[in-house]
Amino acid sequence: MSAPSIITIDGPAGAGKSTLGELLARRLGYLFFDTGVMYRALAWAVLRHSINPEDDEAVAALVRRLDIQVHPPGDATDGRLYTVLVNGVDVTWELRHPEVERIVSITARHPAVRAILRDRQRAIGQRGRVVMVGRDIGSIVMPDAPLKIYLDASVDERARRRTNEIRQRGGSADLQHIRNEIIRRDSLDRHVSAPATDACIIVSDGLSPDQVVDLVVSRIDCDPDDSQDTRAYDRAETSDPAGT
Ligand code: DC
Repeated sequence: MSAPSIITIDGPAGAGKSTLGELLARRLGYLFFDTGVMYRALAWAVLRHSINPEDDEAVAALVRRLDIQVHPPGDATDGRLYTVLVNGVDVTWELRHPEVERIVSITARHPAVRAILRDRQRAIGQRGRVVMVGRDIGSIVMPDAPLKIYLDASVDERARRRTNEIRQRGGSADLQHIRNEIIRRDSLDRHVSAPATDACIIVSDGLSPDQVVDLVVSRIDCDPDDSQDTRAYDRAETSDPAGT
């Protein structure tokens, strides 16, 4: 079977979705689109404009006038997977700041905001030949995508990976602090994070990024009933307060 034209990858923070998405897109010659950067770009703009992240109307008004562009990294040599421009300003690395991390789940949960960003994500996804990464892509944004992956890993594995990533970039990171932050993010993101009923579930503990890509490629014909591990999941549809 030839590769499906839209592949969705959902899962919790730190599960390795971006690494998998980028490797997979590169192998297939597809666009890699990490939808989390749209929510992060909005959180960055909320901080910049000193808006209260809880204020749903102000945040929705802001997102309507925000031009968020995601481009391939081009010649950049700083390890970026893409370049993100907000109203023309390169904010790629600023989106990883702790201040953005602190509020992004709050700005992302407003139904009006989600409706606007999902429409923009859908428009990009519908062009095809794309690997889309997020929390609700297979379940809500692109429910007709022919291949949906739900990528998970244990909290300990995710904390270890995040810590190593930061240290490899020359930063300092405390494993316990990062573990607590992942647990906090899981609980805030829970309302949008769930596998689509027809997602293939992969638990990546102990697997290298390339092994996960190989697993996905080998499952291009995956039967959801053969998923690696379905025990931990309630396969009910995610709640969608916006009804989109
Ligand atoms: O994947 P990430 O950590 O970059 O996501 C940033 C935030 O955006 C996180 O709080 C979850 C949210 N998000 C979302 O609600 N829906 C998506 N499709 C992608 C991300």
